[in-house]
Amino acid sequence: MNYEKYYSEKVKGMRPSIIRELLKKYVGKKGLISLAAGNPSPETFPTRIIKKLADEVLEKYGKDALQYGPTPGYSGLIEQIKNFIEERYKIDSSKVGVLITSGAQQVLDLTGMTFLNPGDVVIIEAPTYVAAIDAFAQYGPEFVQVPVDEEGMRVDVLEDKLKKLKAEGKNVKFVYTIPTFQNPGGVTMSEERRKYLLELANKYDFLIIEDDPYHELNYSDKEPPLPIKHWDSEGRVIYSGSFSKILAPGFRVGWIVADPQIIRKFEIVKQRRDLHTSSFCQYIAAEYIKGGYLREHIPKIRAYYKPKLKVMLDALEEYMPEGFEWTKPTGGMFVWVMGPSELNTTSMLEKAVENGVVYVPGEAFYPDRSVKNAMRVDFSYPSEEEIVEGIKRLAKTCKEEGV
Ligand SMILES: Cc1ncc(COP(=O)(O)O)c(C=O)c1O
Repeated sequence: MNYEKYYSEKVKGMRPSIIRELLKKYVGKKGLISLAAGNPSPETFPTRIIKKLADEVLEKYGKDALQYGPTPGYSGLIEQIKNFIEERYKIDSSKVGVLITSGAQQVLDLTGMTFLNPGDVVIIEAPTYVAAIDAFAQYGPEFVQVPVDEEGMRVDVLEDKLKKLKAEGKNVKFVYTIPTFQNPGGVTMSEERRKYLLELANKYDFLIIEDDPYHELNYSDKEPPLPIKHWDSEGRVIYSGSFSKILAPGFRVGWIVADPQIIRKFEIVKQRRDLHTSSFCQYIAAEYIKGGYLREHIPKIRAYYKPKLKVMLDALEEYMPEGFEWTKPTGGMFVWVMGPSELNTTSMLEKAVENGVVYVPGEAFYPDRSVKNAMRVDFSYPSEEEIVEGIKRLAKTCKEEGV
């Protein structure tokens, strides 16, 4: 049967997620090293603690934890998130609302649904998180790209673009940023730029979506700057966090911190999306913070990933051919590798797979797919041996490409 005529126009226009399709095609293929996945390492999952907490939750709160729950989330978890952002990020929790979401991914969908009309302008970092592009694209915005360097989004370029957009009478709804240990670049926006971005938001009247799932994955002695939300006196920043990298992504629990009026709108939108986030997972997550387990676990995750990042940076240094450059992150899960301008990482992928390695081609991280000579490599999931061997294979592939 041909189902085409039944599909909505919206769904007909959806392109499959490049990363998810890559994973489906290649991951698990024998002998292939994946630097593509972007998955946290299972070695970092606190399985024993989760087992203990699951038992306790069932015993103490079973009736509620297995029941339907309120759309904004379990009050015990909301309280813990408020404590966490107050303690860790110095965000005044009395001035904000919190809504629990089904992962930080849902924040992106709720944001698109809540704010975007077709033709509205969404400003994004270039490159940016692929699934954010896909989530917003459902609502038909015009994407405006602002380049990123080692200090995060180029706010000077942003300012020029804002002036131009204003002169054209365009409606800029929000700037989407991943300011800390960015996906895919691994770079972190400086404090100065964070404050300037906020100034621009006040001046040009737009919102900031601050997507911050990697904040705690810091492998240097210096803490990254506080979230932009910390300096937000006007309520322009919608901050999003997640348990995916600090507990386990399978929980599918994230959160939004924003002005209570915005939280109320998100609640109404979420009612129609999935009623609420898994009650059972929320109860466990609440106990995980309340019992001090999160505080104990973060240093362990950092200690686990830190040497992997070093192994990747060292391997790139040792094996990559002339003409290649890469970011030097101090946290997160990714390194962004750029080759000579003639390189096409999309067409090179097949050869890389033949050589036993897979990465994510750079064009996926740009809505206009304009950048062909870059790629994202992940160090969180492969073992140290696989990282070295994977980079060797990648370097061999690049050399064979002869650019
Ligand atoms: C920047 C960014 N935002 C959001 C997400 C989605 O996270 P979650 O697992 O909490 O839905 C990811 C996942 O990799 C991400 O990299």
